[in-house]
Amino acid sequence: MRDLSRRDLLRVAAVAAAGSAAGCTGHPPTSPSPAPGTSGPVTFPPDFAWGVATSAYQIEGAVAEDGRGPSVWDAFCAQPHRIADASSGSPADDHYHCYQEDLDLMKELHIRSYRFSISWPRILPDGAGSVNTKGLDFYRKLLEGLHARGITPMATLWHWDTPQALQDRVGGWESRECAQRFADYAGIVGERLGDLVPAWLTVNEPKTQVQVGYLSGDFAPGRQDPDAATKALHHLMLGHGLAVAALRAAAPKSKVGAALNLAPVYPADDADATHAVHVRDVAENTAYLDPVFKGRYPDGLHDAGFRRPALESVLRDGDLERISVPIDLLGVNYYNPAFVRADGRTVRKYPVASPANWLEIYPPGLYDTLLRLRRDYGNPLTSVTENGRPDAPDTPGDGLADQARIDYLRDHLVQARRAIADGARLGGYHAWSLLDNFEWSRGYTQRFGLVHVDYPTQKRTPKQSARWYADVIARGSL
Ligand code: FCB
Repeated sequence: MRDLSRRDLLRVAAVAAAGSAAGCTGHPPTSPSPAPGTSGPVTFPPDFAWGVATSAYQIEGAVAEDGRGPSVWDAFCAQPHRIADASSGSPADDHYHCYQEDLDLMKELHIRSYRFSISWPRILPDGAGSVNTKGLDFYRKLLEGLHARGITPMATLWHWDTPQALQDRVGGWESRECAQRFADYAGIVGERLGDLVPAWLTVNEPKTQVQVGYLSGDFAPGRQDPDAATKALHHLMLGHGLAVAALRAAAPKSKVGAALNLAPVYPADDADATHAVHVRDVAENTAYLDPVFKGRYPDGLHDAGFRRPALESVLRDGDLERISVPIDLLGVNYYNPAFVRADGRTVRKYPVASPANWLEIYPPGLYDTLLRLRRDYGNPLTSVTENGRPDAPDTPGDGLADQARIDYLRDHLVQARRAIADGARLGGYHAWSLLDNFEWSRGYTQRFGLVHVDYPTQKRTPKQSARWYADVIARGSL
């Protein structure tokens, strides 16, 4: 199992579930026709929020400094055989100490929007109760530094680093109490930092937590339990809804939303895969979109690997109303599509962004995802909150000449622009990632940065893609 990436494991779960179900319709693929304007410059709206994204555990380091408590990832990395290179998020990019340099770098690259995450255990080392002022101070300085450089912050409250104390005490997202404590935390940061944060995202990729943290066990907290995964699904969605309410009360001027990783699902061949497509679509998309936008869970949860009795055991009156409280912004993390056969198996139809063997490159999938949100979910205001690829393995010279990344970003931006032209309300795009960083169970073996990091010296060197992106931003066109 450990040779498989987390996305493979996610697929394994959904494929296993797909075998036995009965069905409905998926949405057809967009033919990868050229986007309008590909022969000339592709120009973006002048206020388009050109950005980059990072997350706390992947870049900050300083895991035991200034009162930060451990997160589930610190504990997970300490277990044998969990991380490919036996590493951890310490010291990662030592961003906790190097943040001023990183802010300068962003300014030099003309970045206008910075999506980062706040470490919950840096603010509440015990997950709840006493607030660590030094943690708040760090983020206030970061936010002030962004504003001073004309960069708009977008803050995510939870990018997988649940306080270990909460995991130990209540069982993490398996328990309702985790959602309630998350809302308390949202209220605290909303109140203390809300004046500097125009846009908040509550949770990042609940799907990854459910499927990889609770089903396959390949990510922290390392559980392999479909009942626990189902409870985690509900409590993550509830935590999102409760946090939206807490943020609205504490920071009424800010926009609030969540970041979901969405993967359009297509039939792989001419055989009738309607049912398999539906099942996979539940696992990839609608189990997360429907509660937020429609106030209900989709049909077919069981076939997608969830357990109805477990859901019913935790679902309380009013929860779906709490979860579907209106949001202002949906963050879309887009990396790859899923092509499935009638038997539910995944088929790779396009090249993979090696060494990330889960990342099949299909830029029109971004267009289809954004247009689907327009068609089926009331056309919410969106921002691409992650999109990127690791350096190709044969990239020469520390990966600085990263043409494959330039191609990836350009092709996705073309599709993003095409979606805007066709009516999607897309306000921005955040490349993943500003810096090479700690790539979860792959450790430091996969470099997703526009900027190279030499870990022993912490020296930052912009790759060609960073220069290319800076030029695109300066021109406002590709
Ligand atoms: C996303 C995560 C992000 C990073 C990229 C490559 O799923 O949100 O932290 O690991 O994948």
